[in-house]
Amino acid sequence: MSLIEQAAKRLEELRRAGAEVPGASSSDGAEVASLDGVERLPTPEAAIRGLAARGAVPEPVAPSPNQAPLSRDIRRSDGREQSRIEIDLERLKARGFVTPDAPKSQIADEFRVIKRPIIHNARRTAASAIRNGNLIMVTSALPGEGKTFTAVNLALSVAMELDTTVLLVDGDVAHPELPRVLGTPASPGLLELLTTNELDVSDAIVRTNVDNLSILPAGAHHRRATELLASEQMAIVLHELGTRYPDRIVIFDSPPLLPTTEARALALHMGQIVMVVAADSTRQHAVNLALATIENCDIVLMMLNKADKTDVGTYYGYYADDEPK
Ligand SMILES: Nc1ncnc2c1ncn2[C@@H]1O[C@H](COP(=O)(O)OP(=O)(O)O)[C@@H](O)[C@H]1O
Ligand SMILES: [Mg+2]
Repeated sequence: MSLIEQAAKRLEELRRAGAEVPGASSSDGAEVASLDGVERLPTPEAAIRGLAARGAVPEPVAPSPNQAPLSRDIRRSDGREQSRIEIDLERLKARGFVTPDAPKSQIADEFRVIKRPIIHNARRTAASAIRNGNLIMVTSALPGEGKTFTAVNLALSVAMELDTTVLLVDGDVAHPELPRVLGTPASPGLLELLTTNELDVSDAIVRTNVDNLSILPAGAHHRRATELLASEQMAIVLHELGTRYPDRIVIFDSPPLLPTTEARALALHMGQIVMVVAADSTRQHAVNLALATIENCDIVLMMLNKADKTDVGTYYGYYADDEPK
């Protein structure tokens, strides 16, 4: 089966799984919808086909049953359209996440405390400015400690700030979790930005129904993901993500530090790292080993997660001697 046939088969599977596949009738990889004589962006699905036809996308991410369909109703100032997803906020709220309509919940209060120093560090200017201070990675030593839970809540909480926009990046490229948690679409994302020049950063970013919150999906699995995350192209993409809008905070959900090397590659570019530690389950030795892998980052914030709140509440503080003033 050719790559194009494989891509068409996957699209059919996407359609059967309930994903909206606009303009999917064409089988070539360079579909560009044209309305009123104005050239539009290729749909994300067409971009997948185009990339697959060039061998750049070995395995498109399969949609989860909870995945929101893409709608294309955002008109940009240049007249083109941008993808947007509807996050099911009621479902998120029921699962204990921060949501904009419940600003006084306990989880909202906890993340209000957690986000303050991060925002402060990201906004420092002049002599006290932190290099890449607005690039923030959420990581942990091991899987299951609460990285995705923390990254999503932090992103939602920061998005509720009046003068801040948030880009949540699915940096766990081997096991992307945002599709399951938020309904991120199976569209090209970070890995495609690193493997092809055909895709613009702004074309891969997906707007959401939460004001100020956009998402960059992980993209399709790539066997050389670590090398890609450590590449010069990654530095270029991150510069674009971090500097395009002065008020933007970029939060990366990441893989765990110890079992794989992807998170260490990501960490090289980060201005701040939030290190999630699962209370009562992660051994101190594992935490110490994980911290040693991210020594290059000056600002590492430790967060004790899943703690018995009757004991300590959610503990949050700075690790490292050079605590920001
Ligand atoms: N503080 C928390 N309160 C409630 N559930 C949590 C909390 N932290 C993590 N979880 C849940 O624990 C599971 C693992 O968390 P997750 O964020 O997916 O871990 P990781 O991304 O580190 O692998 C998920 O089901 C998540 O919703
Ligand atoms: Mg995760």
